[in-house]
Amino acid sequence: MSSEDLERYRTHEPENLQERFAHRAAHMKPSEIRSLFAVAPRPEIVSLAGGMPNLTALPMDLFASIVENLVREHGQEALQYGSGQGHPKLREQICDVMALEGIRANPDDVLVTTGSQQALDLISRIFIDPGDVVLVEAPSYVGALGTFAQYEASVVHVEMDQDGLVPEALRQAIKTLRYQGRRIKFLYLIPNYQNPAGVLLPAERRSEILDICRAEKIFIVEDNPYGLLGFDRPSPNAMRAEDSENVIYLGSFSKTIAPGFRIGWALVPQALREKLVIASESSILCPSNFSQMAISSYLADQPWRDQITSFCGLYKARRDAMLESLDTHFPKSATWTRPAGGFYVWITLPPEIDTKAMMPKAIAAKVAYVPGTAFYADGLGSWSLRLSYCHPTPERIRDGVKALSGVVNQEIERRSGLALN
Ligand SMILES: Cc1ncc(COP(=O)(O)O)c(C=O)c1O
Repeated sequence: MSSEDLERYRTHEPENLQERFAHRAAHMKPSEIRSLFAVAPRPEIVSLAGGMPNLTALPMDLFASIVENLVREHGQEALQYGSGQGHPKLREQICDVMALEGIRANPDDVLVTTGSQQALDLISRIFIDPGDVVLVEAPSYVGALGTFAQYEASVVHVEMDQDGLVPEALRQAIKTLRYQGRRIKFLYLIPNYQNPAGVLLPAERRSEILDICRAEKIFIVEDNPYGLLGFDRPSPNAMRAEDSENVIYLGSFSKTIAPGFRIGWALVPQALREKLVIASESSILCPSNFSQMAISSYLADQPWRDQITSFCGLYKARRDAMLESLDTHFPKSATWTRPAGGFYVWITLPPEIDTKAMMPKAIAAKVAYVPGTAFYADGLGSWSLRLSYCHPTPERIRDGVKALSGVVNQEIERRSGLALN
């Protein structure tokens, strides 16, 4: 390569790069959350933005000894390739974990994935042709929206309220879409302590939604990373516990153990299993044996249920700090959810406030959040925002909410001044 070419290579995109990409690359865009992660780690900023689990309660010495023992005693297996579907022992243990939410499953129907995010990718790959409809809650998980967009789905949001997805709104959406001749591939929802809204879908609604989707022959993708993180009582049984034919269930150890292992899973109806395993093998060959065996050893020998209880205590204290500060400082014209578990509070401001435009002012006031538009595929949500309480200390959460309330109050005043002029 000549020095001119080298210089061109360093400083410019290769010629016609965009044209050389596949058509689908145009749908690969950075999420709003990704750009926030660039500022959020600055120590002076209280980040109420990311959904990173709080690992301060994790017994690191214990994990150090698990990992050391794994390499010394089982290195030949742990550092080797493994089964494409996942380690057989871990798949059995995953069934024990799911039993806590009422699911009776066969390990043969479990596919271990690289986080549940990979399962979302695999399901999208198998089901979505460009233009196919995926139904999601309004708002919904940004990582799922990004994946659906890459497969060129047409994402249709369905109304939620304080109790999660509204069954009647789902009925109406399906009716309208069917009338328009659209192909609906699945309903994606997060019934427990939803990301981003923090709400919990009650048992009766679960049954009603299952009935609607079964009758309409629409698969349900039940994404449940937060189900065991209920603060005062266990969450209702998983939807998959009621329907093993029509529900694809996604689980993850990211929030109950640690996301660094990157171990999640899909529990799939038998008819889908082979396709999913083949799809996964073609993307990763097999999930990490090392991570799976570390988690398996932890689940086999350690009091993991107690560990989840201690996570719940830690998150509950943070949830309380956030709700108390919101009650104290936020304007009466704002509303917010009161999560019974999980990581997130969803705030709705007066409609004239644009939370994306407000973001630089919040950063200047040393607090970060995620603007509501990140959680919609259709540009809605501009006067909402997500706060997460999982990571900072309760003191920092109080400081952050107070700082944010100052920004919000100023913005409301400024807007009402504009309206008067
Ligand atoms: C609703 C939801 N689904 C899936 C994921 C991805 O989790 P994992 O770490 O298992 O890939 C997240 C992560 O925040 C999430 O909130």
